[in-house]
Amino acid sequence: MTGRVFPGDSEEAGSPPATLVLRNAHLATMVPGGDAYGTVRDGALLLQDGRIAWVGPERDLPPAEPDADVLDLHGRWVTPGLVDCHTHLVFGGDRSGEFELRLQGATYEEIARAGGGILSTVRATRAAREDDLLASGRARLELLARRGVTTVEIKSGYGLDVDTELRMLRVARALGGQTGVRVQTTLLGAHALPPEYEGDRAGYVRLVCDEMIPAAVQAGLADAVDAFCEEIAFTPEECGRVFDAATAHGLPVRLHADQRTDQGGAALAARHGARSADHLEHAGEAGVRAMAAAGTIAVLLPGAAHFLRDDTVPPVAAFRTHGVPLAVATDLNPGSSPLLDPVLTLSLACLLFRLTPEEALSGMTRVAAQALGLEAEIGTLEPGKLADLAVWDVDHPAELAYWMGGATCAAVVRGGGVLTVRE
Ligand code: NIG
Ligand code: FE
Repeated sequence: MTGRVFPGDSEEAGSPPATLVLRNAHLATMVPGGDAYGTVRDGALLLQDGRIAWVGPERDLPPAEPDADVLDLHGRWVTPGLVDCHTHLVFGGDRSGEFELRLQGATYEEIARAGGGILSTVRATRAAREDDLLASGRARLELLARRGVTTVEIKSGYGLDVDTELRMLRVARALGGQTGVRVQTTLLGAHALPPEYEGDRAGYVRLVCDEMIPAAVQAGLADAVDAFCEEIAFTPEECGRVFDAATAHGLPVRLHADQRTDQGGAALAARHGARSADHLEHAGEAGVRAMAAAGTIAVLLPGAAHFLRDDTVPPVAAFRTHGVPLAVATDLNPGSSPLLDPVLTLSLACLLFRLTPEEALSGMTRVAAQALGLEAEIGTLEPGKLADLAVWDVDHPAELAYWMGGATCAAVVRGGGVLTVRE
């Protein structure tokens, strides 16, 4: 590639050019209505002041100002920047010991009930300094960013007390500033019952509703609220109370639903008008219908199914039949999905959940943006949207899912600035 490198590898290296033309490229715009990928062959993009000003076939490219920067992409493919809409990437420690125990036969639930699982990461996160959380989170986020991610959602949920939950959310926000990746934060106070509330479930749910949510809102640290509805976590009724509190504070809600057992989580999420219900391996037909009626998006997390060696497949055919949009995310976390590669995630979505490569890619671009309520700003290559895009060394966009984590990201553009370009 003969393209120039600007502003360089880091955000501090310079401000994006006012006008940038990307030419000699094929575009997977992911705009619905055309072919599967919204393809524009032999296309070009005009980026102005951090937004997409024009997209189309290069022969129709309007004349740019003479001093505009021009990047020749030599026939590479451009997609919208990837949107990883479900992660838990801020945490202390790791759970490799539990991985070994599970390989010897222990189940995720047995480990959780014995005080390990989420609670072991809670102990490590409470003990971690804010700087250490920032450094380890940054290392993980940079791996995602190098593989094309321009927007990420990050949940709390390993603090389970007001101070540590807020610290996690602060770290998540700071990561956005440090890396330039757009960060959306989600308060997941209802992730597990902390040991100090053993025997007082109602007391902990009150803490989440009456203290954690208001404190996060007051500090401007949460863009949404999530809960874990599961036998080893919270009941539908408890999650409903958390959702009522979130809604009263004007925050959108999402749910870890029907991952390990059918708890009626999909229907619960729909009843509360949730933006998304996530996991859903065990969701039933009634839940799917309810999600369709409510416009709740299904976020599929094949990394967790794979890592927990659960071969239950979410009801993908029913989601298609009823028109529930499918998003795909890494679920990057230390316990059930230590998956640091969004491109491999596309592959897993196809192989384990039988999505088509196009569904997987739209799931990590257009539909993921919808799950975050950001569809007006990101997720497709369309005039007016933010200039967030990824350039790939492939001959066809299906290769993103075909190579198992191998498709190379040649460049990432965020807000109009080119962050990495391989020669
Ligand atoms: O999305 N399901 C609940 N929460 C995480 C896992 C958390 C953990 O095990 O640390 C998930 O799979
Ligand atoms: Fe999760």
